[in-house]
Amino acid sequence: MITRSPKQALDAAVDAGRWAPSVHNTQPWTFNVSGEEIGLRADTERKLAVEDASGRELLISCGAALFTMRTAIRCEGYEPIVRILPDPDRPGLLATIRLGNETEADEATWVLGGEIERRRTHRAGFADVPVPDQLIESLVKAAMSEGAKLTPIRSAEAVNVLAALTQAAQGVQTQDQRFNLEVIRWARPPGSARTDGVPAGSYPQEPAPTEPDFPQRHYAWRHGWGALGEQNEAAIGVVAVLTTRGDSRDEWIAAGQALQHVLLYASAHGVSAAFHTQALEMDLLREFLRTELFSGEYPQMIMRLGVTFDDKDMPRRPLSEVLE
Ligand SMILES: Cc1cc2nc3c(=O)[nH]c(=O)nc-3n(C[C@H](O)[C@H](O)[C@H](O)COP(=O)(O)O)c2cc1C
Repeated sequence: MITRSPKQALDAAVDAGRWAPSVHNTQPWTFNVSGEEIGLRADTERKLAVEDASGRELLISCGAALFTMRTAIRCEGYEPIVRILPDPDRPGLLATIRLGNETEADEATWVLGGEIERRRTHRAGFADVPVPDQLIESLVKAAMSEGAKLTPIRSAEAVNVLAALTQAAQGVQTQDQRFNLEVIRWARPPGSARTDGVPAGSYPQEPAPTEPDFPQRHYAWRHGWGALGEQNEAAIGVVAVLTTRGDSRDEWIAAGQALQHVLLYASAHGVSAAFHTQALEMDLLREFLRTELFSGEYPQMIMRLGVTFDDKDMPRRPLSEVLE
């Protein structure tokens, strides 16, 4: 059994946590290591004031970082002991993770751990390669094990509804100067050395529309940035929605943990995700989806899952910037 020293395990966990997905790659977290405990805090200065006024997407992002750290600690040979929102007087402290007993990570954990830095968000159609039903079933179980529900959308009508609402939300947001300015604040021009935000090479300049079309965000608003080529992949993949029973802060964190569990598992099996969260940023549309499609459960993430042979780099802030 490989067990590293407690300090090595905590350092490795924090280093891994940085690689979680986050809305617009805002990386809205800080980590504090004291004794044998990591504190995960929300960095609210990185919150998207227009798009994410409630902080829901920020907490999903931080939940993803939490799952990443739990996985890394297991790979280092310890059982993570997690407390979510441990102190009501410090709402910014989202979780603490302590090292528990020494334990040998099982193969499934190693597999997830191996994907932490490799997993990437996709922003276009997928290759014409099917996603096996068995894999989707495993992803549903992965989400469930974190307290959320992943629903693959099998009916063409429901996929059409989700695409139409994504188009509607994207249309409204594109006309709203506040949304545009916020997106462009986090979009990075070609050649930028910034270690946060969405780089110009991480989305195609003109993605081929999927059928039905799930529009991408306009990261390149008025700039024409974006990678050239690779416009040909246009398969929609499997549309899936992550929901939770309630809509409290701990459920947003659970949604984030479930998201990252799903994404790492999918990545290990050659499947990537593209996100389309625009409709969930508009209260009326989110409420419509909740009541009409998801039996009252709260939609937290809308995604397409599929195969791509695209391989992109995505920056992360160095440890020195995220360690308190
Ligand atoms: C809560 C949340 C919402 C997101 N929404 C979108 C989205 O609407 N469109 C998109 O292209 N990416 C979306 N993303 C993906 C992030 O942009 C991505 O995780 C980030 O840029 C880091 O890149 P990586 O996932 O490739 O490491 C979202 C991620 C999270 C956690």
